[in-house]
Amino acid sequence: MTMLVLGIESSCDETGVALYDRARGLLAHALHSQIAMHNDYGGVVPELASRDHIRRLLPLTRQVLAESGCTLAELGGIAYTQGPGLAGALLIGAGMARALAFALNIPAVGVHHLEGHMLSPLISDTPPEFPFVALLVSGGHTQLMRVSGIGRYTLLGETLDDAAGEAFDKTAQLLGLGYPGGPALAELAATGNAGRFVLPRPMLHSGDFDFSFSGLKTAVLTLVRKQGLEQAADIAAAFQAAAAEVLVSKSLAACTHSGATRLVVAGGVGANAHLRERLTHEAAARGIDVFYPRLEFCTDNGAMIAYAGAQRLAARTHPASDLAFTVKPRWDLATLEGA
Ligand code: KG4
Ligand code: ZN
Repeated sequence: MTMLVLGIESSCDETGVALYDRARGLLAHALHSQIAMHNDYGGVVPELASRDHIRRLLPLTRQVLAESGCTLAELGGIAYTQGPGLAGALLIGAGMARALAFALNIPAVGVHHLEGHMLSPLISDTPPEFPFVALLVSGGHTQLMRVSGIGRYTLLGETLDDAAGEAFDKTAQLLGLGYPGGPALAELAATGNAGRFVLPRPMLHSGDFDFSFSGLKTAVLTLVRKQGLEQAADIAAAFQAAAAEVLVSKSLAACTHSGATRLVVAGGVGANAHLRERLTHEAAARGIDVFYPRLEFCTDNGAMIAYAGAQRLAARTHPASDLAFTVKPRWDLATLEGA
């Protein structure tokens, strides 16, 4: 069934808009990142984020329509991030999606942001088949899920404290790099010697699929105090190696535990080159195929929301949108229902 779906992402500091059609694939996507705007503050300022989403959403929507040569009249549905995320930022996307869908007399669906991330590797000519294990490593979440279909998610384990991306960001901050620090830390680590300092591998042998990253960050702080920032590259490399080893080891153990031969990696940290290299290498040795999103779809984007929304809209008939809507700043992925 062909249905053109507009996807809108506005949960945090990126405004993403995309057009996806199950028959024709991804037709266009556009993104505006607020990173430069928040940089002065060392993190995301929610009020500024909301105001910027308001400024960007309509121009980006016009842009994807123009790029794909589509018109509003051709839209069959609208998908927007309903949560989790910043309440004010979510309300901007949800409000626009609902109003536009109402005006066009078409359905609108609220998408779970992490479902979007988790399905992002499926925006591909060679998508993984279900079932698979998903490693979700974003700025706010670190989870291992067993995925047997759209909306059929079983939580295997998650972080007990900091998310992986948060650990990268906080470590980067300790090393004097900007926000968000993940990409800068990875760049610095590539010039360092990962074997010079050995950092702990928290919960590596805990026998479950849970993670903990706050101790690792504290270990980095102690090391920075002792060694000074002249050693930042070696410390960054040691941190990255420790974090990646835990993520690789637990992900592969989760595959073995679930009898899965496919592993999907999603979320911002999935862009990390060292993690990808280690994971692909170790997984191959165990006969496991690893699937990653396109690099630009690791961090927040509209394409993943359009994709997830298109799957949900296709699964059953949805009524045309009314103007009532809610957002869910906190929302547990494992509570979703199958499509
Ligand atoms: O998935 P995402 O856009 O945000 C959430 O939905 O939370 O991921 C952002 C996170 C940030 O913590 C960022 O530092 C991290 O992903 N990140 C990276 C890399 N690129 C982004 N971490 C490590 N290496 C990277 N190359
Ligand atoms: Zn995200």
